[in-house]
Amino acid sequence: MKNRLDKEDIETRPLVSITRDSSVSLLRMLTTLIIFVVGVVIGLASSSHIDKYFTFQMEQSNPKRTNANAGPVQRVYGENCTIVVNCEKEDCLSMKSFVRPRNYSHRMSDEELFWRASLVPTKDEFPFRRVPKVAFMFLTRGPLPFLPLWERFFTGQDVDLYSIYVHANPRYSLNITNVSVFFGRQIPSQDVAWGSVNLVDAEKRLLANALLDFSNERFVLLSESCIPVYNFPTVYDYLTKSAHSFVESYDDPSRYGRGRYSRRMMPDIQLSEWRKGSQWFEINRNLAIKIISDTKYYTLFKKYCKPSCYPDEHYIPTYLQILHGPQNANRTVTYVDWSLGGPHPAAFTDVNITEEFIQSIRDNGTLCQYNEGFIPICYLFARKFDPSALEPLLDLSSTVMEF
Ligand SMILES: *[C@@H]1O[C@H](CO)[C@@H](O)[C@H](O)[C@H]1NC(C)=O
Ligand SMILES: *[C@@H]1O[C@H](CO)[C@@H](O)[C@H](O)[C@H]1NC(C)=O
Ligand SMILES: *[C@@H]1O[C@H](CO)[C@@H](O)[C@H](O)[C@H]1NC(C)=O
Ligand SMILES: *[C@@H]1O[C@H](CO)[C@@H](O)[C@H](O)[C@H]1NC(C)=O
Ligand SMILES: *[C@@H]1O[C@H](CO)[C@@H](O)[C@H](O)[C@H]1NC(C)=O
Ligand SMILES: *[C@@H]1O[C@H](CO)[C@@H](O)[C@H](O)[C@H]1NC(C)=O
Ligand SMILES: *[C@@H]1O[C@H](CO)[C@@H](O)[C@H](O)[C@H]1NC(C)=O
Repeated sequence: MKNRLDKEDIETRPLVSITRDSSVSLLRMLTTLIIFVVGVVIGLASSSHIDKYFTFQMEQSNPKRTNANAGPVQRVYGENCTIVVNCEKEDCLSMKSFVRPRNYSHRMSDEELFWRASLVPTKDEFPFRRVPKVAFMFLTRGPLPFLPLWERFFTGQDVDLYSIYVHANPRYSLNITNVSVFFGRQIPSQDVAWGSVNLVDAEKRLLANALLDFSNERFVLLSESCIPVYNFPTVYDYLTKSAHSFVESYDDPSRYGRGRYSRRMMPDIQLSEWRKGSQWFEINRNLAIKIISDTKYYTLFKKYCKPSCYPDEHYIPTYLQILHGPQNANRTVTYVDWSLGGPHPAAFTDVNITEEFIQSIRDNGTLCQYNEGFIPICYLFARKFDPSALEPLLDLSSTVMEF
């Protein structure tokens, strides 16, 4: 900096030393101004960004030239390969892509994404035929071992009744053929560490991406070890006709429940409001919007729920208990077997897969509360299955699961 100033001093010194009267001093100011303006113009011309901007402006204001060398839609590749579309040719505010994004990849930060996903229409009527959809959201590290089973589950179903989202490790790209319903369904993701608050972030990221489609009405969170135990029409009816969301929520007085509560969460979260439940939830659109919009409770969990407190097991159940309890069925629709004890549920391998076992998950003789009454169907999905279970499950799917 000092060197530069010294240099400028030297360059201007001859002018200063020669001039004494005011008219020459005015001339000096003008010269300096001209040099400055020329400098700016040269600077602008050499900047590629502005150059592209000018080119784009020129192409826009010169329809003859545009028509001569472009197809029906003119695309200009800007910095970082973003495609700048000529909105005079393409409907950039098209209703279709606004209510249902065509491509799941985007560059929004979580902050931008959650804000956008939190926007709620105030008008009661939709200017399009809105058929409620179920969003199947897969939270996975790597591959989806039960992909063939899920593909069979979706085969032949109306594509306007469901959507699929996959949040995988950011460095993992699912190898999926373009004929699969899972093709192009991977969303922009971030690293997830087991037991940390960024597991909740990933859940919120899935919800927010799914909320961008205004037709999504129910949101199911699934893992790579989850399977469906009923066919699509049954799952669709069960979820879309339910007055409640299905988030397991209970008060566990042991050290694995209340023992994880921190008094520093007071006064916003009381011990009596502290809940525990499986992370594999099913919620409706209204609750999904509330969850991605919450900052107050999320911040408390981020600050004070650290191992051996696990935000993914407490945040959503507790948040719903405090603010939206009556909307929750307080039970899960994803079967899991904790009967063996220990920190992990039972994992079922190929030898465990029998018709009787799958039937017992579908209906074990117990009735579950549903809307105002009771029904024999308690679970729509089940975990936790080892990849070796795939073949026996595919053998059973048409006879037992009816898909
Ligand atoms: C292009 O990418 C670079 C590096 O990631 C970034 O600094 C720059 O802001 C990006 N430009 C635009 C227009 O997004
Ligand atoms: C992707 O899957 C196809 C077919 O299953 C296989 O041929 C191909 O090698 C896979 N590619 C990668 C990169 O794993
Ligand atoms: C799918 O990929 C194949 C080969 O990679 C290609 O020939 C075909 O046109 C693609 N289909 C679609 C619908 O993109
Ligand atoms: C979505 O957009 C990205 C980048 O713009 C592109 O690479 C990808 O092929 C697109 N996916 C689909 C399914 O069109
Ligand atoms: C679930 O629990 C909440 C809060 O305790 C309660 O308000 C709600 O009625 C319960 N849901 C059902 C379906 O019983
Ligand atoms: C699975 O089958 C094996 C072998 O019969 C048995 O030891 C194991 O307990 C079964 N697992 C479950 C979770 O039922
Ligand atoms: C059947 O499932 C219900 C709901 O999870 C459970 O409470 C009950 O103990 C099960 N009954 C049997 C006989 O396994």
